[in-house]
Amino acid sequence: MTGQIAAPTRRAVAVGIGHYLPDRIVTNAEFEASLDTTDEWIRARSGIERRHFAAEGETTSDLGVKAARAALDNAGLTPADIDAVIVATSTPDLTFPSVATMIQAGLDMPGGFAFDVQAVCAGFIYALSTANAYILSGQVRRVLVIGAETFSRIMDWQDRSTCVLFGDGAGALVLEAQDGTGRSDDRGVLSVDLHSDGRYRDLLYVDGGVSRTQSAGVLKMEGKEVFRHAVEKLAETAHAALRRANLGAGDVDWIVPHQANLRIISRTAQKMNVGMDRVIVTVQDHGNTSAASIPLALSVGVAEGRIKRGDLLVAEAIGGGLAWGAAVLRW
Ligand code: UT7
Repeated sequence: MTGQIAAPTRRAVAVGIGHYLPDRIVTNAEFEASLDTTDEWIRARSGIERRHFAAEGETTSDLGVKAARAALDNAGLTPADIDAVIVATSTPDLTFPSVATMIQAGLDMPGGFAFDVQAVCAGFIYALSTANAYILSGQVRRVLVIGAETFSRIMDWQDRSTCVLFGDGAGALVLEAQDGTGRSDDRGVLSVDLHSDGRYRDLLYVDGGVSRTQSAGVLKMEGKEVFRHAVEKLAETAHAALRRANLGAGDVDWIVPHQANLRIISRTAQKMNVGMDRVIVTVQDHGNTSAASIPLALSVGVAEGRIKRGDLLVAEAIGGGLAWGAAVLRW
């Protein structure tokens, strides 16, 4: 048939990004007074130099509201323009209601719906995937996707192998339904690849919770084992997401990785044959902020003028579960 016009493909396009970090910055040196550790060890083994900690009384939803406002401002939108709020977090203010509904209230959002997603450090990839599916189904037009955490509240301050690694913060992304062509040069989310394997739950977990202990608990991690899985799985999931989008590592402008450890970030980039000059790295300043780390890195990358409209990004993350995955997004 001639003259046939292809139907447009709906895409979830990023139209705003923002973040918020609590005021208090804690350097590695500050741990030396209370723990058998050194600034040198922390830098050399993780790449972390400092992290932000929430103030007393400052909650995950407080951080999320500020990040969401920044993202809405960046998009030139108001809360009334948003149809859904999806928050990735493992450190909610309360057991319920969700952080997402608290952020909805904090923004004075007049409508829409809001809920949390829990996939620990991979949470933002899962939330992005969920938001993308809602947009592609036609159910919503604009979604606020937020990663917000206060991991400082679940640290064992006597455990030097974990408490020096994590930090607090929030990042938010506004996704909007727009027409694309269906080709890989479209802007927006081009593919997602998700995995989990619950058999590895003992490698990274919190030893408290509502049903088992009626308390919040503290984080426990077999660091070396998690490291091994990360190095094995992250490049694989990133490659799988790229294949789904009919793209390859050579097309990537920026890897936006989960910020847990600089050695994991660089080994993953190396496996993908992508130079470190094309990787957004914030772990030195933020530590590991779990589900907040990817939107924080995205926001910093955009604010610094490194990530530009039309750039091809691949975001990848792994964490407790184990749960892992990657997303390909053209900015
Ligand atoms: O976001 C979720 C995903 N999480 C991750 O991706 C984290 C993955 N794991 C890691 O990033 C790394 O495994 C760590 C940074 C946690 C640890 O680095 P490592 O090179 O695997 O060190 P290790 O656990 O093998 O520990 C080496 C040594 C040990 O001493 P011995 O047994 O060799 O005498 C530890 O006790 O370093 C010791 N150590 C420390 N020393 C000084 C552990 N923590 C510290 C510390 N300061 N803070």
